[in-house]
Amino acid sequence: MKLVAIQSLSPGVCLAKPILDEAGNTLINAGIPLTETIINRLKQRGVTFVYIGDKRTNDIVVNSTIPLSLRKKAMKSVEDVFQSLQKKHKKTRVALLEQSFREVHKIGNQLVDEMMNNDDVLSLLTDVYIYDNYVFSHSVNVTLYALSLGKEIGLTQPALEKLGAGAMLHDVGKMLIPQDILNKPGKLTDEEFKLMKKHTTYGYELLRSTPNVSMLSATCAYQHHERLDGSGYPLGIKEERIHLFSKIIAIADVYDAVTSNRVYRSALLPHEGLEILYAGAGSQFDRDMISAFRRAIAVYPIGLFVTLNDQRKGVVSKQNKGLSDRPYILIQEEEDRILDKPYEIDLKESPTLMIISSDLKQT
Ligand SMILES: [Fe+2]
Repeated sequence: MKLVAIQSLSPGVCLAKPILDEAGNTLINAGIPLTETIINRLKQRGVTFVYIGDKRTNDIVVNSTIPLSLRKKAMKSVEDVFQSLQKKHKKTRVALLEQSFREVHKIGNQLVDEMMNNDDVLSLLTDVYIYDNYVFSHSVNVTLYALSLGKEIGLTQPALEKLGAGAMLHDVGKMLIPQDILNKPGKLTDEEFKLMKKHTTYGYELLRSTPNVSMLSATCAYQHHERLDGSGYPLGIKEERIHLFSKIIAIADVYDAVTSNRVYRSALLPHEGLEILYAGAGSQFDRDMISAFRRAIAVYPIGLFVTLNDQRKGVVSKQNKGLSDRPYILIQEEEDRILDKPYEIDLKESPTLMIISSDLKQT
């Protein structure tokens, strides 16, 4: 299968992987030829790229790094927290909140276990989602990215469990922000942005006042938009005044925001998302932490068509454990000629070879 930009799709082509809703249910099945209407719908819903079946890349399979069932459970647990908050009756609200926070902790620990037992570089681009409520899946994605960064910088399992809980709940304050601002396609006005920024303080206050929620989780909600150079919010604090976990979540948050499908802009590919982080390295974000993050995630997703510095072209076919930017490539074109028999090379074994560009055309 091959990763292709939605703009370059022509009717008749078949999806190689289903399109899912945010809860992991199938919206469009794999194997069905796409019509122009479906392609347009996908564009309208913000889908940037999809996996298509392609006879030259049939052998390439893209598996989810995190089991869909676990992801589904994680989404549900975050959603339950948000639902509990809606309850008008205070006693019911507090009781439900406590219960849903417990569930978040439990699932957070399962995510940590999953990460600890999995040495693969993390890729969340392995499944294509359409979101109705972006906050839930964003919370889960941020948790997964934060955990893989935490693991890469050597956090212990108990520390990762605390980080996981903080990350799952980092945006909980958004529940108290009006829906029309939260889901507004496009840029917020100054006034709206001022209100949006309050989700940090709201989240902090909410978590701080709920029994059995750690102060650390509250701190993550409070500080995840702070930046090393003091340019963040709500307090504009700097460097060591920002908790390590908040710094980790900040990186995971920005990365997921720019690499996720949204209605109002295209998602970036992983290596493009990393460039955004590197633009803030040393000022907004810790440079060493961004490098660690780069090592932890799949820089080039499986199915991506790439050109190497010796002009050979092919599709990323397999990841290399622990070497996020040196995947296997199934070479399909050499000296401007399409090969009858594509062959695979391992970039780990060829240190002089580099990926110089990528292409998302259907061809
Ligand atoms: Fe946030």
